[in-house]
Amino acid sequence: MKLKEKVAIVSGGGGAIGRAVCLKLAEAGAKIAVFDLYQESADKVAKELESIGCSSLPCAVDISQYESVHETVKQVHQHFGRIDMLVNCAGGSARERMAEFHEQSIDVIHEMLQVNLFGALHCIRAVSPFMVEAKQGNIVNITSIVARCGARKCAEYGAAKGGLIAATKSLAIELGPHNININCVSPGRVERTLPEDELAFAQRHSVLNRICTQDDIAETVLFMMQPGASYITGQDLAVDGGRSLGLRGSH
Ligand SMILES: NC(=O)c1ccc[n+]([C@@H]2O[C@H](COP(=O)([O-])OP(=O)(O)OC[C@H]3O[C@@H](n4cnc5c(N)ncnc54)[C@H](O)[C@@H]3O)[C@@H](O)[C@H]2O)c1
Repeated sequence: MKLKEKVAIVSGGGGAIGRAVCLKLAEAGAKIAVFDLYQESADKVAKELESIGCSSLPCAVDISQYESVHETVKQVHQHFGRIDMLVNCAGGSARERMAEFHEQSIDVIHEMLQVNLFGALHCIRAVSPFMVEAKQGNIVNITSIVARCGARKCAEYGAAKGGLIAATKSLAIELGPHNININCVSPGRVERTLPEDELAFAQRHSVLNRICTQDDIAETVLFMMQPGASYITGQDLAVDGGRSLGLRGSH
């Protein structure tokens, strides 16, 4: 149990990837504070964690509001006595409200930046003083290959994730001397429901013959949190089945 006695905050812990990350860190022995916008989602995952013997704390918090994040992080520290890890997983591309930028609503543009960029920065800002004081910590931001490659109807989402990748590099330089690692994990397409033609879908979204699962992302986060990855900081690791690689050829 490599993470025994360690405490993690997972933002968006009630979501698809967040839940998988919570379970993976819990299996490695960590205690988990599940942050989510919806109390019900946080409660559901916390209950699942308790059922596998993990001590957990469900927290309803809107990460776009700094004061709430600050208060909730303080409560987590009071409850567990320490905070060792932060996984910034809350967010998403608002798939159903995507539009070309010249037609996109200002509200969606602001919301994408509020949650995916400012929300993650709020969590880092609130958690890092505890890590600096403890002289140790590990932060993983879930970003996206959209930030590397661009994608139609994703300008605001790409800007938010790209901003977070850029911030990660500067933060790694600042936090490194305090023995704190910070990295990004950039998924390609992670599907929640299996499509009818799985192989065709997999080949459209990767160079491999299988679909990326939430567990693929969670395994990578777990790797980043373990001593074996302790010399890695300031990096953005693509977990995309090779989708972001080079040119696809002329056919
Ligand atoms: N699913 C993919 O294909 C994919 C690909 C690349 C990157 N990502 C990234 O992975 C992360 C998780 O994605 P997912 O597919 O699990 O999405 P999801 O919608 O299942 O989970 C996101 C969670 O974040 C929570 N959340 C949203 N706004 C919040 C706020 N203001 N405060 C607190 N919590 C909030 C939601 O309630 C939800 O539980 C996101 O950051 C997303 O951008 C996903």
